[in-house]
Amino acid sequence: MKHLLSLLSTTPQEIEELLNLADQLKYENKHGIKHHRLKGQTLGMIFQKSSTRTRVSFETGMYQLGGQALFLSSRDLQIGRGEPVEDTARVLSRYLDGIMIRTFAQSEVEALAKYGSIPIINGLTDFCHPCQVLADLLTVREHKGHLDGLKLCYIGDGNNMANSLIVGGLKTGMRVAVACPEGYDPDKQVLDFANAYQGFQLYRDPLEAAAGADVIFTDVWASMGQEDEAAARRRVFEGVYQVNKQLLSAANPGCMVQHCLPAHRGEEITADVFEAHADEIFDEAENRLHAQKAVMVTLMER
Ligand code: CP
Ligand code: NVA
Repeated sequence: MKHLLSLLSTTPQEIEELLNLADQLKYENKHGIKHHRLKGQTLGMIFQKSSTRTRVSFETGMYQLGGQALFLSSRDLQIGRGEPVEDTARVLSRYLDGIMIRTFAQSEVEALAKYGSIPIINGLTDFCHPCQVLADLLTVREHKGHLDGLKLCYIGDGNNMANSLIVGGLKTGMRVAVACPEGYDPDKQVLDFANAYQGFQLYRDPLEAAAGADVIFTDVWASMGQEDEAAARRRVFEGVYQVNKQLLSAANPGCMVQHCLPAHRGEEITADVFEAHADEIFDEAENRLHAQKAVMVTLMER
């Protein structure tokens, strides 16, 4: 594995190995066992969008592994003034040992990987959020003991989270049911991939998608970069595409609820359901750290 660009380009075996390594690193972290497996290395973190979890978990993870992380806001980089990503990739490859990038276009992440000579990690694009979904898979596996055969349900916008959950869920043997409003479907490339699996189904009705679910995911109605569409989206999603008690009553007993955060209570999830599942949701947030350490060790350890 040279890069983490999307879960579409990651094999089921690579995903399983990342999850196993994340489990090990989490165990070591909890028991105070320190391994400076990336001693002396530097990760550059390019951010073209806001972040709490991604920034802090990558920076802390890199420090725990004996290296350092540089926070590079696109507001300050020349990339923000039009320097091509192809040049940025070749320059940064001369200084750094790896790059994590959060941006809009997936093509920018692919260009960094094509023109650079160091590992590239996708820290969220409009297309996908692979680091988040590795943490999600880790969390579900921890709570349920396995992934194979479980039913994963996603309710809401067919966005970056939906795309990565569909691919990650199917590649780890889960059945995946998604409910999105018409016009807000997951990416076509993802649907083409998913439709080859018997265990995948796209619905319009959230209650149908949630039937018999073992874990329900949701995400915001308007993602970063879609602020201008927020009011129009609210009219489409409101009152239907929400994780609430009624939806959970259609799921299996003991069904987990996950949210990548930040969450908008009263919109895609009710406050009572969020609080009832807060332990699972904050385990999920914590697991960003462990999953990403596994990604960095896998890609960067010499
Ligand atoms: N879930 C997630 O990626 O959070 P941040 O936007 O805070 O990094
Ligand atoms: N879909 C959300 C995820 C945030 C972590 C966004 O892209 O803003």
